[in-house]
Amino acid sequence: MNDPDILVQAAQAAFDAAPTPAELENAKARFLGKAGALTEAMKGLAALPVEQKKAQGAAINQAKQRIDAALQARRDALARAELERQLRAEALDVTLPGRRRGSGGLHPVSRTLMRIEAIFRSMGFDVADGPEIETDWYSFTALNNPENHPARSMQDTFYVDLKDAEGRWLNLRPHTSPMQVRYAQAHAQRHAGSGAMPEIRVIAPGRTYRVDSDATHSPMFHQCEGLWIGENISFKDLKVVFTDFLRRFFETDELEVRFRPSFFPFTEPSAEIDIAFAGGPLKGRWLEVAGSGQVHPNVVRNYGLDPERHIGFAFGMGPDRLTMLRYGVNDLRLFFDGDLRFLSQFQ
Ligand code: PHE
Repeated sequence: MNDPDILVQAAQAAFDAAPTPAELENAKARFLGKAGALTEAMKGLAALPVEQKKAQGAAINQAKQRIDAALQARRDALARAELERQLRAEALDVTLPGRRRGSGGLHPVSRTLMRIEAIFRSMGFDVADGPEIETDWYSFTALNNPENHPARSMQDTFYVDLKDAEGRWLNLRPHTSPMQVRYAQAHAQRHAGSGAMPEIRVIAPGRTYRVDSDATHSPMFHQCEGLWIGENISFKDLKVVFTDFLRRFFETDELEVRFRPSFFPFTEPSAEIDIAFAGGPLKGRWLEVAGSGQVHPNVVRNYGLDPERHIGFAFGMGPDRLTMLRYGVNDLRLFFDGDLRFLSQFQ
């Protein structure tokens, strides 16, 4: 074991065989430690004759340098291997697509309501909002509904288990028409005694409720009321305003609009408004989109206005229906089921 070359080879082999830094340090101790083979060889020098001492001493020194170098090389190799292992374990695949946060969007009916509002605002209409839980008076009586009108029945209207000051059940408004009365009353009061009252021009979009459910009816649906009252507002103005609205809403002038005589207690004369497209899958079919008419004198009186002086028209349209037509959807209930696979198609 005293041949320095053999020592170097043995150390090299022991270092190379050490699989971990800890075992490498143990192997180092066996050669370079206090009781290590190299240290022992140094001690052995003392017993040698002078001329051998020199040559052997130089050889041992050189062996020590080579063992140190081999040790350092193995330390570096183990450290590199450890680094490689860590890099591999903690590797990031930067080519993997990120996890996106789902982005929200507007409901298709909200988009329709925004379009309706924008178009009517551009025609000088105010946009008003009102309660969904209504009194009997605003939903029916003020709108000239007779006491026994079927719309008042439990089969048609949802009632709330609460009574108003007159002792009548509150209802979930079955239409937005109460907003005609609420808005006109407030307007009339605001301008009371001021001589000339400015015209009333308003739309009132919102949720409405009826006991009804099939492909074209949902118990909760939307309506948008419209009201224009002045001193000389006629059915002609209704036709112009509503036709213009429809053409702008559907972005086509090739749209036929028909006013078909009808009946509502709160308008006289009354008309259903139907439209027909000149092309597309619905070409030539008449589709009902709104009810309308000249406001009945009794209703104008309930606004707090004089029907001899104030006259105008009202309409009530179905934004859900307009949304179905605009996007070609054939089941109204899809809008309110909350299925994102359906709703996200409108973004
Ligand atoms: N309120 C009516 C309905 O729900 C629509 C309508 C509004 C008709 C205004 C005439 C005037 O069917």
